[in-house]
Amino acid sequence: MTKKNQRPINLDLQTIQFPITAIASILHRISGVITFVFVGVLLWLLSTSLSSPKGFMEAANFIDGWFVKFILWGMLSALFYHIVGGIRHLCQDLGYFEDLESGTKSAQVSFIITGVLALLAGVIVW
Ligand code: HEM
Repeated sequence: MTKKNQRPINLDLQTIQFPITAIASILHRISGVITFVFVGVLLWLLSTSLSSPKGFMEAANFIDGWFVKFILWGMLSALFYHIVGGIRHLCQDLGYFEDLESGTKSAQVSFIITGVLALLAGVIVW
């Protein structure tokens, strides 16, 4: 059999699982991009709400719909994950959580902290 024929030809993607550290890493990038895209919206909301009592009502009316609230909650959750994951990254830059075991644990902990903060964001938004 030639080498070419021995190549895997039927790669079952469902058998491939990413380690939690890889998921934490890609989510950190995704949450950074989401934060970048929506930081303008948040600043606009803040400046509108602080501009005058009428502006405050405008901002309050804007975020009154279920869908807008859901997007706002998603934005805040992404920001929270980015901050929590970012602190984990900075700890790693200092030499902590660098081996597989502590890296896995710290990724799990960062997901749990983000979950709690996302719940809190939901309470604030709704
Ligand atoms: C407006 C606020 C922010 C925006 C738009 C933002 C966006 C981003 C983006 C797009 C990346 C690149 C991700 C990648 O290439 O993998 C990044 C990386 C990073 N961010 Fe943020 N970020 C913000 C705030 C923060 C905050 C508050 C922290 C504090 C913990 C933080 C910590 C980090 C760290 C440590 C990295 C590097 C991660 C790595 O080494 O892969 N960021 N950020």
